[in-house]
Amino acid sequence: MAETGNNVDRAAEIILEGGLVAIPTETVYGLAANTLNEKAILSIFEAKQRPFFDPLIVHVHSLEAVGKYADLDDHRLLKLAKTFWPGPLTLLLPKKNNIPSIVTSGLERVAIRVPNHELTLKLLEKLDLPLAAPSANPFGYVSPTLAQHVEKQLGHKVNYILDGGPSKVGLESTIVGIEEGNVCVYRLGGLSLEEIEKVVGKVELRINNSSDPKAPGQLKNHYAPRKPLFVGDLRELSELHKNEKIAIIHFGNKEIPSHIKAFDLSPGKDLKEAALNLFRFLREADESSAEIVLCEPLPDEGLGRAINDRLRRASVQ
Ligand code: TXA
Ligand code: MG
Repeated sequence: MAETGNNVDRAAEIILEGGLVAIPTETVYGLAANTLNEKAILSIFEAKQRPFFDPLIVHVHSLEAVGKYADLDDHRLLKLAKTFWPGPLTLLLPKKNNIPSIVTSGLERVAIRVPNHELTLKLLEKLDLPLAAPSANPFGYVSPTLAQHVEKQLGHKVNYILDGGPSKVGLESTIVGIEEGNVCVYRLGGLSLEEIEKVVGKVELRINNSSDPKAPGQLKNHYAPRKPLFVGDLRELSELHKNEKIAIIHFGNKEIPSHIKAFDLSPGKDLKEAALNLFRFLREADESSAEIVLCEPLPDEGLGRAINDRLRRASVQ
């Protein structure tokens, strides 16, 4: 069991000693260490069983703090930062020399964001250090949206869990950068394309290069529960799998026979609510007595796009 609480001073002390602290953010919980301490960063990779080619996101307390570690010169990215930080937006920016290359897996750009959670912002301000933090789950598994999720899988590997309650967005941040002069989205997430395009106009989607080691979050098989997940029309899937014990994750008040374990992402068909529930339900379905999990795709708009992206990567194909 990891020591757990909402004591920011205790969390800061552990970070300064080179330890690992699970931090709450509005997207998902992160597994944090001092970005500038290479040994501490190594222990993040070790705890998650994460390959070294998968770079980490660096968290800072404010837009002003970014300049110490990266160049935020592009006016479009600056506009996005001013509009959406603190929030579920990660920017890929040319890194400065003080960011160890293990953090960026040797890449020239560092992923940076200002998270929107009171406790974590307090911790970042107190430390005045950047915290590198991937999602606090074993590599390839569903991201945690509750302190208990972290405890369950990584409790024996973290020194402290800063419990900030349930994550308010429930999907990882949207990753944005510039390539060949264009604004590109590398990972769909808690900030929708529509919101981004309102600020900087049309963007390019670069989310499907599954073999590209620069963006393992885009690996075809990621974010996955341990039980087989099938995504598609629920009627057809139920028929196809009628001899297996199924759990169903659906969107909006469907009649499901009572002997089947069912999870409704949002009875009122609200995509934000669905995003909030998705990872928790995937975990609960995984822990239920069902042998397989069936889920229907959501409307491909707003956060629905990011949800469908996660479902696709988590599913059997
Ligand atoms: O919402 C989030 O982003 C959460 C919270 C904790 O902030 N973090 C998160 O981290 O989802 P992680 O490590 O699970 O996913 C980070 C993704 C990975 O797919 C990684 O490849 C990509 O960001 N990434 C990080 N640094 C990068 C870089 N320098 N260039 C390209 N991709 C990068
Ligand atoms: Mg992750």
